[in-house]
Amino acid sequence: MATHRSIVVLSGAGVSAESGISTFRGVNGLWNNHRIEEVASPEGFARDPDLVHRFYNLRRRQLLDPQTRPNAAHLALARLERSFPGEFMLVTQNIDDLHERAGSSRLIHMHGELLKARCGACETVAVRYDDIDSADTCGHCGARRALRPHVVWFGEMPMRLEEIYTALGGCDLFLAVGTSGHVHPAAGFVDVARRAGAATVEVNLETSVTESMFQRRILGAAAAVLPVLVDELLDGTR
Ligand code: APR
Repeated sequence: MATHRSIVVLSGAGVSAESGISTFRGVNGLWNNHRIEEVASPEGFARDPDLVHRFYNLRRRQLLDPQTRPNAAHLALARLERSFPGEFMLVTQNIDDLHERAGSSRLIHMHGELLKARCGACETVAVRYDDIDSADTCGHCGARRALRPHVVWFGEMPMRLEEIYTALGGCDLFLAVGTSGHVHPAAGFVDVARRAGAATVEVNLETSVTESMFQRRILGAAAAVLPVLVDELLDGTR
């Protein structure tokens, strides 16, 4: 049986990379081709909502393409949640729904969700599969030109942080997978877990900014590493 009693996993764009979803800072990363302040900030949205909607509409269409499917990394994390006897929480910085499609349910999208839209007038959040247009009206309150992606932009507060910090304070294993450690507060989670006495493991294709904060680092592709690591965790050998 697993030697751990409470696991928190943080996933980043590297987990979805092998499903064909672009990362942000790697080769051909999204931020190489778009200015963050133009497409991922409240100021950018106020300045040019159509540009921002085009940026997210493109990513939503790619996510809904039948070719885009969960990969072995997503499936391994869902298996860990299902088979691990202790407490488990998966915190993802990703806005795709590949963790859900792989079977994960104890999941927090701290940066929001690409397949949801939020009304700036009544705050109603609704599932959204088709393009959002800046002239769209809110299906709940009828406000015009009020819909935005239900995504956390730079300068905005990530979601459900209180639940996340509570879980970090009580875990005895913190596993970060496929994240560069550039963006806070997610980049600081390893320190919170470590101070709570947790073992800390990082899985990444290359060294991340926060790699020195982890007791154990496994270099490799998440889709190859995670299935083996999950076996070890469930056998209690790690
Ligand atoms: N397996 C494991 N790691 C991988 C793989 C892979 N197949 N492919 C890429 N990586 C690693 C890269 O080495 C990098 O460290 O995934 C990380 C991706 O880093 P980023 O592109 O910065 O993505 P992420 O860390 O999720 O970004 C955090 O920044 O722009 C914001 O909101 C956005 O949620 C995002 C946040």
